[in-house]
Amino acid sequence: MAKLKVGILISGRGSNMAALIEAANAADYPAEIACVISNVIDAPGLKIAETAGIATAAISHRGFPDRESFDRIVSAELEKHGVGLVALAGFMRIQSPWFPGHWQGRIINIHPSLLPAFPGLHVQQQAIDAGVRLSGCTVHFVTADLDAGPIIAQAAVPVLPGDDAAILAARILRQEHRLYPLVVRWFGEGRISLTGGRAIVAGVAPGAALLFSTDP
Ligand code: GRF
Repeated sequence: MAKLKVGILISGRGSNMAALIEAANAADYPAEIACVISNVIDAPGLKIAETAGIATAAISHRGFPDRESFDRIVSAELEKHGVGLVALAGFMRIQSPWFPGHWQGRIINIHPSLLPAFPGLHVQQQAIDAGVRLSGCTVHFVTADLDAGPIIAQAAVPVLPGDDAAILAARILRQEHRLYPLVVRWFGEGRISLTGGRAIVAGVAPGAALLFSTDP
């Protein structure tokens, strides 16, 4: 069966992108990384993707008259590569409503908190300040509302006494690198759908869409 073609959008270091590229190197992985696009011209992740032999494009958002004009160019680039799933991975650009509308049900994001708690930025510090005992990461469908689309899967980690934002971010990131490839695998296997505003994961054990790690 043909593999699902995934387009990844990044803005920075690209460690989640690298985790997806590595997962997709396995012969039995049902998805392939078709292209990586960055809105930041010198994003370190672009180099990683190039080294891995993935098609890349750097498309600066600067110089476009509005968000949608930029989004349409990015979308055309994804379509050029036959992309069936768009994975945002540290893509730091707010999109026009047109983009998630166009890719509805075929665009996902990973966010370093247990949504709906702590959307937005500086989320690890927000979690520490709130005194929560658990945090983690969420893979969700992207909709026009920031960090608010239907949740597909989550990974939870403890928030430990003495954690600062960097320590907690690193603990969460290790789980991001497990969770994102797992969810993209499920997409490739045709298990995930968006039905009635909810994400449905079919044919996996109950609870499989929640990972829990107590690794420090
Ligand atoms: C990750 O923490 C991701 O959850 C968030 O942005 C960060 C990107 O990191 N959306 P990287 O570029 O994948 O290393």
